[in-house]
Amino acid sequence: MIQIAIMGFGTVGTGVAKVVSENARQIERKLGEPLQVKTILVRHFKDGPYRQLMTDDFTRIEEDDGIRVVVEAIGGVDAAYTYTRRALLAGKHVVTANKQLVAERGCELLELARKKNVSYLFEASVGGGIPVLHPLTQCMAANRIDEVYGILNGTTNYILTRMVRTGAFFSDALREAQAKGYAEADPSADIHGIDAGRKICILADLAFGSQVDPAAVPMEGISKLSLRDVKIAQRAGYRIKLLGRAVRMPGGGRTAYVAPHLIPEENPIASVEDVYNAVMVRGNATGDVMFYGRGAGELPTASACVADVMECLQASPRRDEISWSSDTSGFEDPQELRTRYYFRIEGSLTDAAMAFGQVEVLSEDGETAFLTDPISGRDAARQSGFLNVLACMRVLA
Ligand code: HSE
Repeated sequence: MIQIAIMGFGTVGTGVAKVVSENARQIERKLGEPLQVKTILVRHFKDGPYRQLMTDDFTRIEEDDGIRVVVEAIGGVDAAYTYTRRALLAGKHVVTANKQLVAERGCELLELARKKNVSYLFEASVGGGIPVLHPLTQCMAANRIDEVYGILNGTTNYILTRMVRTGAFFSDALREAQAKGYAEADPSADIHGIDAGRKICILADLAFGSQVDPAAVPMEGISKLSLRDVKIAQRAGYRIKLLGRAVRMPGGGRTAYVAPHLIPEENPIASVEDVYNAVMVRGNATGDVMFYGRGAGELPTASACVADVMECLQASPRRDEISWSSDTSGFEDPQELRTRYYFRIEGSLTDAAMAFGQVEVLSEDGETAFLTDPISGRDAARQSGFLNVLACMRVLA
């Protein structure tokens, strides 16, 4: 019998207990022994089938030599960081879906895990149930990764889909996403692009091999997005999606950011809807590789966590390829990237042409929506300085 502990019993923690119990036979077949949840760390005790396993005393996990793997499903940094450190120091493997902790302290926790000869795995922290970190670090290991971008937040993609397809109000669509267990405890992290920002940092860390500080990454969400722009874009053959993007710059630096983008409808990412996420990885040998699946929700996220638990137990003694250096130098401002820009301005085509020269007009009715030629973010801001700008977004090439 292999025993594990779960810390935190919200959406992810509950899902892990369910997957361990419902898929017990498959898991046992692969591990050669049954897997059992022995202890669950909670702040508030809840009635139900797991009540007997609950404790509010972390030392019952830390000092229990029978517990080999701890699933951290607390979220946030404070308690999650303290208990993760202590569990690793106690020689236990730790698995998590906590993107904030991995993005902010992952490098340090991986180093601690290495010293203690245990694993710290976090496949569920990006893309929920989609396997993307393992393929990126293992199957694509022979590539230089030049770019990673994708729809990394299920809540905002769900909200956008409901608003565009059925005309739902933002607040109603958000409530639905919360009821389905997609949203963060504080959904402003979803709406303002912060959750996607943490995920693109983790992808960039692994893709480029050195730390991207979340504080340096511009993160914009969907709160300023207007359905008017969604419709103009659709008529012109584009979809608007919130993308996280990490790019290797021509001089060898790297950059990352989160913002809504116009995406040409022939790009498969454009048709990713509902809670689904998709991550495109561009390797110099593979070209574009896309990963697609449910990006949030109890069971998809738990599936990735339990697979990591199984990997900790099977890897001998631990996996080394998941790591990156703590060096944050070489991060460049994403304003240096050159792309086409979408603008909607209060003004005429003449105003647009005076600012940008030749533009492609998408609509003209008192307001003018248009696409520029590829320019840097700096030039886009400078050249639009005299215009009354109602909307501005990058276009994915
Ligand atoms: N709130 C996150 C999302 C959960 O909506 O994608 C999964 O990380």
